[in-house]
Amino acid sequence: MMEQRELDQLLEQQTRYYRARAGTYDRDMAWDSDDPRLRGLLVPVEDWFDDLPIRGQVLELGCGTGAWTRRLVARSDHAHAIDVAPEMIEQARGSVGAGDVSFEVADLYRSNPAAVYDTVFFSFLLTHVPPTLTSQFWQIVASALVEDGTVAFVDAAPHRHDEEEWSGDGVALRTLRDGSEHRIVKVSPTPDQIVDAMADQGIEGTVDVVNDAFLVGVGQRSASLL
Ligand SMILES: C[S@@+](CC[C@H](N)C(=O)[O-])C[C@H]1O[C@@H](n2cnc3c(N)ncnc32)[C@H](O)[C@@H]1O
Repeated sequence: MMEQRELDQLLEQQTRYYRARAGTYDRDMAWDSDDPRLRGLLVPVEDWFDDLPIRGQVLELGCGTGAWTRRLVARSDHAHAIDVAPEMIEQARGSVGAGDVSFEVADLYRSNPAAVYDTVFFSFLLTHVPPTLTSQFWQIVASALVEDGTVAFVDAAPHRHDEEEWSGDGVALRTLRDGSEHRIVKVSPTPDQIVDAMADQGIEGTVDVVNDAFLVGVGQRSASLL
């Protein structure tokens, strides 16, 4: 198991990586692509998202440049989006446009949400949560939800690590366009492991693999937290 100091350093490096990547992040993302091959891959995830019971007060963790924030704003009374990287929040503010939305630079592990939400959403964040913080992560999600509130998330399917050097012990080496190298957390939980981790914190849910490329999960907080 990783020592606390090593874990802190890894998380700091991960934050530096996302801060440095914010300006070019959207260039690497394919969600707005109209390439038919990519659309075939992405449409089932977009359909899954459209069917989610997103409502009311929404919290988004790790919003990045706001690719999903826009969609959350359209379906909520208010969306509050947080990210640890100020540069990501700046991009998200610029890209989301009008709507009932607020942004906050915050480390989800250090900031206990001041409110409870009807919906908590995160995309491509779970695979950056170190195994030693998994319980804490789901505890934060559960305590941010109202009774019967919904959590939903999308991420890369297990073992989709072709694009990076992945050491298999939960750490990946990423190289940015400027040549800088960064060690980040990259884990590969199975759907069953995620379902169990949610259940441990009083969230009943399901996790599915879509197109062999994505994980999509949805869960509901039970009436009383365990
Ligand atoms: C892979 S990106 C995904 C961004 C966005 N959700 C998307 O789907 O395009 C992961 C994001 O999570 C943020 N993040 C990582 N650790 C975080 C933490 N502890 N607290 C808040 N945000 C975090 C990163 O800064 C980054 O913007």
